[in-house]
Amino acid sequence: MNKEFDFKGCSVVITGGSSGLGVEFARQLAPQASQILLSARSADGLETVKSELNQKYPDVEVLMCPADLSTIQGRTNLIEKVVTSGMAPNILINNAGAGDYGSFSTGSAERIQGQIDLNITSLVMLTHALLPHLKRRPERPSCIVNVSSLAASLPMPDLAVYAATKSFVTSFSEALRIELSGTNVRVSCVCPGPTPTRFGQNAKRPDGTDTDRSGQDFVKVAPEVVVSTALNAARRNQACVHPGWVVSIAATAFRIMPRALLRFLAAKRFQRSQP
Ligand SMILES: NC(=O)c1ccc[n+]([C@@H]2O[C@H](COP(=O)([O-])OP(=O)(O)OC[C@H]3O[C@@H](n4cnc5c(N)ncnc54)[C@H](OP(=O)(O)O)[C@@H]3O)[C@@H](O)[C@H]2O)c1
Repeated sequence: MNKEFDFKGCSVVITGGSSGLGVEFARQLAPQASQILLSARSADGLETVKSELNQKYPDVEVLMCPADLSTIQGRTNLIEKVVTSGMAPNILINNAGAGDYGSFSTGSAERIQGQIDLNITSLVMLTHALLPHLKRRPERPSCIVNVSSLAASLPMPDLAVYAATKSFVTSFSEALRIELSGTNVRVSCVCPGPTPTRFGQNAKRPDGTDTDRSGQDFVKVAPEVVVSTALNAARRNQACVHPGWVVSIAATAFRIMPRALLRFLAAKRFQRSQP
């Protein structure tokens, strides 16, 4: 299955399809897709994306499933939507995700649990439930794109749970890719650095607690570039990509850096951010 993946006529499920990277995935796939199923909590947000796509690409069937994917009920609703709509998806984009800026000890239990339920449990359980659909026609190539993060490469004080959930996503993706290598399903993982979406706003705590953003402007990559890099990785069957050359260099540096130095730098950055 090392041929280039052809997106023509694809049938796609995108989680987190109401905003940011999820919308961009829909925009870039729509010119070639036959069906796109978007899921997120906000029905209004999904409706706006659906209208945009319907207007520009009238031949594409755009379906919506408003659901809180951090819950079993929400995930069940999405899986049922796939079944009842009769769609035969051959692309799953596990993109929905959320963070929480601030120290672990001052974080709310609800937001901590929410990140784990969405970033890990939802991604794993949706993959498990939808894999039989992706495998159904062995002659038809399918792919899973998991959205991880540059944060997966290092311990991140003040974003500790989020970074750990993304380490999980990268590790899970690479193992699943190997398990599925003899099948029609390929797996790619994308690890964006800071990207201008609603992510940062949503990760701020209700009391305004934010994170140290020094140096972020230098590594920011546009959502369009993140998504085109991710889709190229899926097309070429690449295991893991870091969109943007600065992000890519940073990821390589974090990977080869002695762990003691990484810990020292993370601690220095954390101390600098303390009042
Ligand atoms: N932006 C960055 O700097 C950055 C960097 C690295 C990785 N990422 C990753 O990129 C992915 C997309 O994030 P983004 O940057 O596009 O942020 P975003 O603009 O905040 O989009 C997040 C999407 O996830 C959905 N979502 C959030 N909670 C949900 C829930 N409980 N159930 C269902 N859907 C939910 C949101 O829709 P609703 O609010 O309507 O539910 C939205 O569609 C995430 O996995 C994130 O971790 C982002």
